[in-house]
Amino acid sequence: MSDNQKTATLSLPNNESLQLPVYEGTYGAPVIDIGDLNKSSVFTFDPGFRSTASCRSDITFIDGSNGILLHRGYPIEQLAESSEYLEVCYLLLNGELPNETQKQNFYDEVTHHTLVHEQLINFFNGFPRNAHPMAIMCGVVGALSAFYHDTLDIQNDEHRTNSALRLIAKMPTLAAMCYKYSVGHPFIYPRNDMSYAENFLNMMFSLPTFDYEPNPVLTQTMDKIFILHADHEQNASTSTVRLAGSSGANPFACIASGIAALWGPAHGGANEAVIHMLEAIEHPKNIPAFLKRAKDKDDPFRLMGFGHRVYKNFDPRAKIMRKSCHDVLQAVGVNDQLFDIALQLEDIALKDSYFLDRKLYPNVDFYSGIIMKAIGIPTNMFSVIFALSRTVGWVAHWNEMIGTPGQSISRPRQLYTGAAKRDFVPLNQR
Ligand code: ACO
Repeated sequence: MSDNQKTATLSLPNNESLQLPVYEGTYGAPVIDIGDLNKSSVFTFDPGFRSTASCRSDITFIDGSNGILLHRGYPIEQLAESSEYLEVCYLLLNGELPNETQKQNFYDEVTHHTLVHEQLINFFNGFPRNAHPMAIMCGVVGALSAFYHDTLDIQNDEHRTNSALRLIAKMPTLAAMCYKYSVGHPFIYPRNDMSYAENFLNMMFSLPTFDYEPNPVLTQTMDKIFILHADHEQNASTSTVRLAGSSGANPFACIASGIAALWGPAHGGANEAVIHMLEAIEHPKNIPAFLKRAKDKDDPFRLMGFGHRVYKNFDPRAKIMRKSCHDVLQAVGVNDQLFDIALQLEDIALKDSYFLDRKLYPNVDFYSGIIMKAIGIPTNMFSVIFALSRTVGWVAHWNEMIGTPGQSISRPRQLYTGAAKRDFVPLNQR
């Protein structure tokens, strides 16, 4: 430890004390390095990782108290306003916005990989038609590793880049295939003359008998939804990807593990849960009864789309989505009762002391579900679209971790509270 290294002193139960290095990042609270604690007689205890930084990262910064989200230093508001999803992908993966040539090359490389192997169709055919699309996604994304043995050397930079491109390019194709399979329609091949978002909507809604012509407002909003979900630092699914990747697992397997973690209603499943909640509320007059349930500690019901582990202020992505929500509803001419319920719920909750005291604000999922519903995307596809968008974030973090010198397997410890050592009891004596 250098002389000017800041330290924190930890007094241990055996009267020993330890000097622990304190690091400061570009922004955010300083962190105490407890990495050497295992050389003493104690560990730290932090279930849910509320106070633990699991890694150093250069990719994304969130200031939850002030509602700030930066990707590689750029505010999310500016990226959502002036950028395209693939440009944001390049930024997240490479650290800088692309120049004209870099952008064109990156777009060409992504579109080069949009097709999936024809044999993957057999995987789809093995699923029941009513399977949840996230169940299918966990399977088919993991299965990609069976097709790309040529790029699975995780220590090879070129292989890692190739896997990243393949994942970003194929996710829309696979996501749309999930939908087509569920409704019994033929799969639509990707169109490389279309933008990323346009191609996705085309694969979702075109038929051999009907050319889908996406409304430019919907295409732009879809692209914005992709941007707003592209990365969010060390959330549950990204941490899962890092943890899986720390063992040396291949990127397709790691992304499949991220999809599984994202599926839960406390994470990526929330936008689906928001729609179910709004449908259950049915009419604005029922809002007070649902708010009462949300505040009742004996009732497991929570207001879906409200609250965030990190944001204790308005989620900046939610502000952007709120505006897009109005644009889309106007563009498609939907007068959706659900949106009325959502706005009234938002209004009432934002004035309620329970939510104010706990700093529970609407999160991005509160609005994205309504937008996707208006675009015509079925509810069970919402988390698939989140997974599609977040793939670049997962890959960027996985890549950053693999490229970190001294990277080792992540292996948390535990506080054991089970039975003390005892002797085996034969079956006839139990
Ligand atoms: N409705 C009602 N009460 C809530 C809600 C909610 N949505 N969220 C938190 N609270 C309450 C908790 O009961 C707790 O109350 P208490 O202090 O009286 O015990 C307090 O607010 C603090 O909440 P925590 O559970 O400590 O917050 P945590 O950080 O663990 O959870 C989470 C964050 C999971 C997002 C939670 O707010 C939640 O379940 N929200 C609904 C689901 C949701 O919208 N998820 C999307 C997250 S964003 C994303 O993944 C893109």
